[in-house]
Amino acid sequence: MVMGSGHMLFGLLLLIAASAFNTTSKPSCPDGCGNVSIPYPFGIQKGCSRSEEFELVCNDTHYNPPKPFRGAYEIVEITLEGQANVTAYVASDCYNESGSTESYYSHMRLREDGPFTFSNTLNKFTAIGCDTQAYITSSYGRNFTSGCMSFCGEKETVIDGLCTGIGCCQTSIPQGAWGFSIEVNSSNNHIGLLDFNPCSFAFLIAADQFKFNINDLSNGSQYEMYLGKGKKVPLMLDWAIWNETCKQAENSTSYACKGSSTCYNISTNGLGYRCNCSKGYEGNPYLEGGCKDIDECKRHPHPCGAEKCKNNAGGYSCTPRIQLTVVILGTISGLLSVLIVGSWLYWGLKKRKLLKLREKFFRQNGGLLLQQQITSHRVGVTTKIFSTEELERATNNYHESRIIGRGGYGTVYKGILPDQTIVAIKKSKIVDETQIEQFINEVFILSQINHRNVVKLLGCCLETQVPLLVYEFISNGTLSYHIHDKALSSSLSLENRLRIASETAGALSYLHFAASIPIFHRDVKSTNILLDDSLIAKVSDFGASRLVPLDQTQITTLVQGTLGYLDPEYFQTGQLTEKSDVYSFGVVLAELLTGEKPTSMNRCQEERNLSMYFVSSIKGNNLFQVLEKRIVDEGGMEHVVAVAQLAERCLRVKGEERPSMKEVAMELEGLLRSVENIRVQKLHEETHNLFGETSQSYTGNESAIGPDSLNNDTMSAWEVGR
Ligand SMILES: *[C@@H]1O[C@H](CO)[C@@H](O)[C@H](O)[C@H]1NC(C)=O
Ligand SMILES: *[C@@H]1O[C@H](CO)[C@@H](O)[C@H](O)[C@H]1NC(C)=O
Ligand SMILES: *[C@@H]1O[C@H](CO)[C@@H](O)[C@H](O)[C@H]1NC(C)=O
Ligand SMILES: *[C@@H]1O[C@H](CO)[C@@H](O)[C@H](O)[C@H]1NC(C)=O
Ligand SMILES: *[C@@H]1O[C@H](CO)[C@@H](O)[C@H](O)[C@H]1NC(C)=O
Ligand SMILES: *[C@@H]1O[C@H](CO)[C@@H](O)[C@H](O)[C@H]1NC(C)=O
Ligand SMILES: *[C@@H]1O[C@H](CO)[C@@H](O)[C@H](O)[C@H]1NC(C)=O
Ligand SMILES: *[C@@H]1O[C@H](CO)[C@@H](O)[C@H](O)[C@H]1NC(C)=O
Ligand SMILES: *[C@@H]1O[C@H](CO)[C@@H](O)[C@H](O)[C@H]1NC(C)=O
Ligand SMILES: *[C@@H]1O[C@H](CO)[C@@H](O)[C@H](O)[C@H]1NC(C)=O
Ligand SMILES: *[C@@H]1O[C@H](CO)[C@@H](O)[C@H](O)[C@H]1NC(C)=O
Ligand SMILES: *[C@@H]1O[C@H](CO)[C@@H](O)[C@H](O)[C@H]1NC(C)=O
Repeated sequence: MVMGSGHMLFGLLLLIAASAFNTTSKPSCPDGCGNVSIPYPFGIQKGCSRSEEFELVCNDTHYNPPKPFRGAYEIVEITLEGQANVTAYVASDCYNESGSTESYYSHMRLREDGPFTFSNTLNKFTAIGCDTQAYITSSYGRNFTSGCMSFCGEKETVIDGLCTGIGCCQTSIPQGAWGFSIEVNSSNNHIGLLDFNPCSFAFLIAADQFKFNINDLSNGSQYEMYLGKGKKVPLMLDWAIWNETCKQAENSTSYACKGSSTCYNISTNGLGYRCNCSKGYEGNPYLEGGCKDIDECKRHPHPCGAEKCKNNAGGYSCTPRIQLTVVILGTISGLLSVLIVGSWLYWGLKKRKLLKLREKFFRQNGGLLLQQQITSHRVGVTTKIFSTEELERATNNYHESRIIGRGGYGTVYKGILPDQTIVAIKKSKIVDETQIEQFINEVFILSQINHRNVVKLLGCCLETQVPLLVYEFISNGTLSYHIHDKALSSSLSLENRLRIASETAGALSYLHFAASIPIFHRDVKSTNILLDDSLIAKVSDFGASRLVPLDQTQITTLVQGTLGYLDPEYFQTGQLTEKSDVYSFGVVLAELLTGEKPTSMNRCQEERNLSMYFVSSIKGNNLFQVLEKRIVDEGGMEHVVAVAQLAERCLRVKGEERPSMKEVAMELEGLLRSVENIRVQKLHEETHNLFGETSQSYTGNESAIGPDSLNNDTMSAWEVGR
């Protein structure tokens, strides 16, 4: 604790000592003597000054507070700016009626190796008296003799406060003197003046500390100051780093200017140089690191005024505070407005472009034509023209999860209209621009088809590049799915199969013969026959369908269709007739009976196509081996054979030999009824005596088909096959 408080006290003292003076002495050196601070290059102890010439002696034995000395003369104050305050004796010369009474010389010599000279700028050689001749002579450093004379006849002529030659005179001294002697004399021993001016005084004095007072001439207030032995006046000395110029010193190891400092010559004639901290720095330029940056911004008030001040090495910068924020705000708001206006324009133009594009597509897709058609055929038209937005909303922007089918002609999405109607939306692939009119016709006609076994077209959207078609939604998937899925196919009875076939045939027959313009489906296949919840067939996908002008029975087109279902004749000739659909339907029939896929790699080369396989099975008399197990199990083979026979006819290579769709439909309908009857009768009684009635022919009429005839037909078919 004792030690601790001792340290604290020591620290406190150091603190006081440090704050007493500007810390401009060498580190670990006393920074002053008594009240006088001693800046480097001066120093008190050995090693604390730049050199021996700058060493001062602090006399603490005879003075309290101690006083620093350079040789014989006391240093009252010393500054880094190159000055030192000292005192010098006054020379005087006094008279009474008897003559001279007292007379003193003044003599001062600075050390010749010293850094000091008498300041020529801050001192004035001054004499006071009305019968006075004063001389100053230098024989050291700069030799010179100078002086001034002062006379005045009576006190009244003296002007108080002005040292202009009446009662007081002054003169400058040259630079570079380091020793002088001063004498005063009178020409008339002050005779006639003794009552108010018995003495003359002369001295070299710090000019700003002397102000002539008329009482100085007589027994006045300041008289005591000068009179008598040992009286002294303040005097200024200049000091410098002797005795080179900046240029000479620059490269030497003893160059005094350190850090951020500059050198300046005292004069042009070799009195040495001094150092100054560079602009923006302050401190002691003679010490390494002595010049410290001035933080101008910490001044009060700081130099930037209203502006923001930022300090930097050797200076500072001002940044307009308010203006800057104004500029920044202005810039930001300017940019913002440009941005807003720009994006507004951009979006505006983009929207306009989009609208234009939609209009173009609408036009291109025959929207106008369709509108025209609709307005001119008002009756029975249920087609609605949907907008892009409506359908986007309905399909959740054509979300992946809404896809319910992908086909050669496009993608089908499930859509939910605002009234909760579920629809199927077909997005077609590219549409040939030249076929637009035909497409529109197709859409138009399909929209008019109101057949329970044709998928209903509800409307379309023409604003997109490819037209979008909106159909009624059929819930139970495709026929293909029901046939080829093992679980589903085993629950698909012969009656259902027959009914589906009959319904499909009826729909196709309707398209071929009952529509206002014949329509060839062109892509009849099990995947294009949809089933609803009650397994009612709905023919769909008229994407490849063709309208056939009434006066034509065939048209030449690019061969189109699905492998396995494609009519070989059409494939070879490119001639599309209604019989192409019949062929494809034959394949569907075969599919229904066999449960086989239209093309299968599991069958041998020649029988890869189901049609070939099926026909060759009939001809090879092994139909029962290729039939679906469920059908065989069900029994009623007469009907099965009849259907197989019909399918075989549909699959004839030559189109002419195939029955028409109308014939097919009727035949199937007859078979269906027969099967239905059997089921109904089976419900009532178990009997084999059902085949009593006969009907040889059923073409065109709706009469029931006799089983005998069927048997006969079947047999003949079998015979043909052999
Ligand atoms: C220290 O220096 C400043 C100017 O730099 C001056 O105002 C102040 O009086 C000095 N203090 C001492 C103790 O010399
Ligand atoms: C010198 O110091 C003493 C006390 O240490 C003080 O009273 C005096 O006023 C000081 N004189 C000057 C000129 O600073
Ligand atoms: C201090 O000053 C006195 C009187 O001027 C002198 O006699 C003495 O030798 C000086 N002491 C030192 C250490 O200079
Ligand atoms: C030193 O001299 C200057 C200039 O004449 C003066 O202003 C200052 O008061 C003097 N300092 C002392 C301590 O006498
Ligand atoms: C003049 O001064 C001297 C020396 O001080 C003295 O002896 C003498 O008496 C004085 N004369 C008069 C007239 O006072
Ligand atoms: C100055 O005067 C002294 C004595 O009169 C003489 O010895 C010295 O050489 C002179 N110096 C110059 C530079 O004239
Ligand atoms: C003062 O001047 C008188 C005559 O004018 C002369 O006799 C005397 O020697 C001079 N004294 C000094 C010290 O110069
Ligand atoms: C100045 O006054 C003092 C006393 O106040 C006196 O002794 C002295 O003789 C006077 N000197 C002159 C020249 O008047
Ligand atoms: C500098 O001073 C030394 C003695 O201290 C002297 O020999 C030399 O001639 C001086 N040089 C100049 C340029 O005054
Ligand atoms: C100081 O050194 C620089 C190169 O460092 C040189 O160019 C210059 O002339 C030298 N000056 C003197 C006075 O020797
Ligand atoms: C100092 O003086 C010398 C010689 O007169 C001169 O060459 C030099 O340029 C001066 N330097 C400065 C900084 O004034
Ligand atoms: C030295 O620096 C001070 C403060 O920066 C300035 O007032 C003075 O004029 C400078 N002196 C010279 C000779 O450059």
